[in-house]
Amino acid sequence: MKTIAIFYNNGGVGRTTSTINIGACLATEKKKKVFIVDLDNAAFLTEALQIEGGNYIADVIREGRKLTEEDFGKTTTPNLFVLKNRRNEISDKLFQSTKSDGSKVDNIFILKELFSELDGDFIIFDCPQYYELPTLNVLAFADYMLCPLEVSPKGLDTLESMLHVHKQTAKINPELKMLGFFGTKVEMHYRRFKKTIPILKKQLGELFFNATISKNEDIVTSQSKFLKQTVYEYGDVKAMQEFTNLTNEILLKIQ
Ligand SMILES: Nc1ncnc2c1ncn2[C@@H]1O[C@H](COP(=O)(O)OP(=O)(O)OP(=O)(O)O)[C@@H](O)[C@H]1O
Ligand SMILES: [Mg+2]
Repeated sequence: MKTIAIFYNNGGVGRTTSTINIGACLATEKKKKVFIVDLDNAAFLTEALQIEGGNYIADVIREGRKLTEEDFGKTTTPNLFVLKNRRNEISDKLFQSTKSDGSKVDNIFILKELFSELDGDFIIFDCPQYYELPTLNVLAFADYMLCPLEVSPKGLDTLESMLHVHKQTAKINPELKMLGFFGTKVEMHYRRFKKTIPILKKQLGELFFNATISKNEDIVTSQSKFLKQTVYEYGDVKAMQEFTNLTNEILLKIQ
């Protein structure tokens, strides 16, 4: 089982969309058993898919037990399972343990314990935007960190700090590998993308994916509350091709 943390320290870059559709590609086209986890307080992942059954991550953490497959909700995509979340339930407090004297202490290994008995091919985490205890809990046991990069001034400014996050976290989890950055919401007809993407490729080398995800209103529509579909269910050929290219590159890097 491979665990991938999808993380970027900016809002709205495409973490949730990538989690859903990389997961969907692995489940449908690659026939893998995939668990995706909504760890973000917006709970957008949970709201963007049709999910039957399953439990909520905060409840399982509070119960202090290990996860089983039954905790995951079934999606309309076979082999794609979701650990659901409710809005505003993920806080640092949830990731604290009580010591024998009753005091609280930060615990970065709660998720590691929680996921230790689950069996499948992939776990993909939709991490919160912030590098706080919840994200740290994921990075403390993940195999890979994957970063959706929005080619905007803010997105580019954050890039180096993401490499720093990886370096820092690898001190706790030496197994954590940086899979790299891929461009999201790309609009190649604009100068800023045409100019920036070749430079990113040159500077980041292997760490910058050839595959990019174009800005595409069909992706937004696929997630709307009336549809709640992955791009593979929705059937937008361009989005499907792009997520498949991205997933193929991920698999090449993992093997
Ligand atoms: N390729 C795309 N083209 C157009 N819109 C997109 C694309 N990818 C994502 N979006 C839209 O951009 C918004 C942010 O995307 P998403 O929720 O995946 O990002 P996020 O990093 O998880 O954001 P948040 O900080 O809210 O958790 C959503 O409304 C989503 O529908
Ligand atoms: Mg999100």
